[in-house]
Amino acid sequence: MASVTSLTASVHQRLASALSAALPEATGADPLLRRSDRADFQANGILALAKQAKANPRELATRVVSQVVTGDVIKDVEVSGPGFLNITVTDRAITENLAARYADDTGRLGVPYAENPGTTVIDYAQPNVAKEMHVGHLRSAVIGDAVGQLMEFTGERVIRRHHIGDWGTQFGMLIQYLDEHPHELDHKAGEVTGEEAMSNLDRLYKAARKLFDSDEEFKTRARRRVVDLQAGDPRTLAMWQKFVDESKIYFFSVFEKLDMEIQDADIVGESGYNDMLDETCRLLEESGVAVRSEGALCVFFDDVKGPDGKPVPLIVKKSDGGYGYAATDLSAIRDRVFNLKADTLLYVVDARQSLHFRMVFETARRAGWLNDEVHAVQLAFGTVLGKDGKPFKTREGETVRLVDLLDEAIERASAVVREKAQDLSEEEIAERGAQVGVGAVKYADLSTSANRDYKFDLDQMVSLNGDTSVYLQYAYARIRSILRKAGEVRPSAHSELELHDAERALGLHVDAFAETVAEAAAEYAPHKLAAYLYQLASLYTSFYDKCPVLKADTPQQVENRLFLCDITAGTLHRGMALLGIRTPERL
Ligand code: ARG
Repeated sequence: MASVTSLTASVHQRLASALSAALPEATGADPLLRRSDRADFQANGILALAKQAKANPRELATRVVSQVVTGDVIKDVEVSGPGFLNITVTDRAITENLAARYADDTGRLGVPYAENPGTTVIDYAQPNVAKEMHVGHLRSAVIGDAVGQLMEFTGERVIRRHHIGDWGTQFGMLIQYLDEHPHELDHKAGEVTGEEAMSNLDRLYKAARKLFDSDEEFKTRARRRVVDLQAGDPRTLAMWQKFVDESKIYFFSVFEKLDMEIQDADIVGESGYNDMLDETCRLLEESGVAVRSEGALCVFFDDVKGPDGKPVPLIVKKSDGGYGYAATDLSAIRDRVFNLKADTLLYVVDARQSLHFRMVFETARRAGWLNDEVHAVQLAFGTVLGKDGKPFKTREGETVRLVDLLDEAIERASAVVREKAQDLSEEEIAERGAQVGVGAVKYADLSTSANRDYKFDLDQMVSLNGDTSVYLQYAYARIRSILRKAGEVRPSAHSELELHDAERALGLHVDAFAETVAEAAAEYAPHKLAAYLYQLASLYTSFYDKCPVLKADTPQQVENRLFLCDITAGTLHRGMALLGIRTPERL
């Protein structure tokens, strides 16, 4: 399963062996290789190593240089500054390396498999039953999907869990209402659209709420229903299931609009852990991790205090015997660790839930469910803001429906596509419009680091210039069109050719795909891949401006440039796919 090694990796390897030859105690040390503007690469690792060995850094650097084998791959290496190394590689090495990658039919583009892959359960795309999906749910879905794909690509075993909000006291009210108006959700799956399903749920919710607030007797009946639900009364459960099923029709329609594949089997909501709740509490109480306090079962933390200075506990079981969000999450941890055998639990959840997860993870650690081998991380994301910099709301101050946002993005994108379209049919414009619009929304989300807030600005998102998916999609489509125009002439690498600076810059950046994907996966940082792709498109643009492709001087050069075009396109395509974004062949 070995994939083609990147040029970066072979330069790294050469430097590491020169380093250990020059300084045996530095065997295995990282020369800290970076791409650099001065040469092709710069190695900065010698400074720290010299300090450790109490050696003069420039002297050590000079000794390393004398050990570097030059010629085939490394053209030149020299000491610079206090003890950096500037490294230039040969044109031949660049072309040969890309050619090997191009010939490799695994489609991995040099991306290595992780040495010790593990099992990660990723908790993302977790909307709530009987409620609209909002922009927060968008972030979790988009980031989680990209991170899951990135990890899988590096060989990690990824198990997806959609922890939907499908349990809680609000269902008492809904079920009671449905019981009293029995025909409200009478239809078979497939008979209603997602939109209709949501409007049914919305109507029921509003009607039930109204009754609940105005009619004391209904309120009492609704509260009794909660008890029936928790006791597992079959008729009550059957009605609850209707709400879940109706909601799933809606969720799946949104996921489809998002061009995202979600498996029904991966939807394990809060209710999925009902059978474990009692045991979770028993284990926590017996081990002393949780204690009784004012009738509730609580876990305390030295550093979690309320504004009055009093400790704020994590409540695992309420004094009325009810279980909440914490009990479910703690049970889910046990399931993921002991049944699914995960060693990493990743939660793609709003940063506003960070305190909850901090307490839940710490509780699980005290209970011994998490430890040094099995750990949990919250990939906490920031808030989506409106143009005014405040949390995104409609003019009426309501939360924005995700579907409306997506529809608007698609509409705007279709207008952009239509304006630029030369020979696209109406049908094609609609299809591309959806791919460009949804891509724009996903890219805007993925191109800022997840923990930061970001402004939802459709004008900027569908702009053709700047760091947008539309720019990347157009770059891709342009390359594909050149390749089509080449007709009979096939892309082919010619490693004897000298490269133009713009070709070298492009080639070296294509090479860096391998390291970028590995890093983005390991750090759960899709924005690093997005930044890479943007730079790739920019470097392609300057290559294209400076180096004629079909009109290059010699037939070999035409073929070699077509080859550079093709591998750039392949890299763009693969990178965008890992982010969940389509790259249409023509735009
Ligand atoms: N349903 C929750 C919400 O809408 C997110 C669930 C996050 N996952 C979890 N395991 N608690 O905010």
